[in-house]
Amino acid sequence: MQGLVCDGDGIAMVKLTSAPKVFVVFGATGQQGGAVVKLLTSDPVFRKEYIVRAVVRDPTKESAVALQELPGCEIVQADLDDKASLYPALKDAHTAFLVTNSIFDERLYEREYAQGKNAADVAVEVGLEYLIFSTLSSVRKISSDRFTKVWHFDVKHDIEQYIRSLPFASAFIAMGCFMQNLTNALKPRPVGDGTFEIATSMSPDTRLPMIDATDVAVFVAAILRDPEALQGRNLHAAAELRRVEELAEIVSSVSGRITWYRQLPETDFRAVLEGMNPFFAEDSTEMLGYYEDFGYFGPDMEKLIQPSVNRDYGTLRSVEEFVKELEF
Ligand SMILES: NC(=O)c1ccc[n+]([C@@H]2O[C@H](COP(=O)([O-])OP(=O)(O)OC[C@H]3O[C@@H](n4cnc5c(N)ncnc54)[C@H](OP(=O)(O)O)[C@@H]3O)[C@@H](O)[C@H]2O)c1
Repeated sequence: MQGLVCDGDGIAMVKLTSAPKVFVVFGATGQQGGAVVKLLTSDPVFRKEYIVRAVVRDPTKESAVALQELPGCEIVQADLDDKASLYPALKDAHTAFLVTNSIFDERLYEREYAQGKNAADVAVEVGLEYLIFSTLSSVRKISSDRFTKVWHFDVKHDIEQYIRSLPFASAFIAMGCFMQNLTNALKPRPVGDGTFEIATSMSPDTRLPMIDATDVAVFVAAILRDPEALQGRNLHAAAELRRVEELAEIVSSVSGRITWYRQLPETDFRAVLEGMNPFFAEDSTEMLGYYEDFGYFGPDMEKLIQPSVNRDYGTLRSVEEFVKELEF
């Protein structure tokens, strides 16, 4: 595109500039998508290069309204469950960041797969050039079908394979275990004697590749800086590999509150979760068994996360830094 600019003497001249590209962000009101919107609207280089189109289901929601106030950010109403709504969302777009959603019921796999396929199929139809997908490993494959009910992992791997078969460029970010889990599933709970515990069915030595969910933006930035080199790659995102018992130790040392890790018998752990949601219980119990026996990203986990742990893609928040900001 040609644009008029002024040089230092105020003389108008014609210079070749390129028009900003439309970057569509799914899950824009959530942790990962929200961080990608923040990156694209705050980084001086990306701000010039992209117009952000943030996908929201309800534009009147507070978090959606807040997005409209960001410079260079427009919002569009669409729903991944409704393919027709995705045409206006992806029209004329150059790049998109896609995160799909796991709802723990009997339709988890089918629904989430359809979400990924809807977005990817529309992307082909409208001529999208580059898709970045937040993926995960195939637990079924890595465990040779020993664990077959970790649907929210398997479905992302299967969506990734589908996206790879399509005629546009793509790159993938496999997110480690969110540090934000320390505020829910791995939250230290009071035990009644002034101390706290993190209790799951994993052995205390199970290692987790920990990542702040919002640090997904670091990996998106790395892909945007070098899209051709990273095309087709799967960046495994982890700031550090920690034994689950170490997480409790970090909470103790940072917060001053004595926190233990306790391994629960699997049946007890499952029973607690089943009271809340049987599908979540099934998926979660198998997932933790898989972490313990095969590793979050499988047997090559250490090698896969090495570039991320080495900070090759950029600076990442450590568990200690994350815990320092938590209010217990
Ligand atoms: N917890 C972990 O350790 C971990 C690790 C790796 C990957 N993951 C995966 O991360 C994903 C969640 O990502 P997140 O934490 O960034 O999300 P999040 O904070 O839970 O937010 C979900 C986002 O998705 C949007 N959304 C929900 N349903 C939608 C639909 N049908 N169509 C369009 N948008 C929809 C929501 O928008 P609205 O404002 O419209 O509701 C919201 O922006 C899950 O799939 C999970 O499996 C989790």
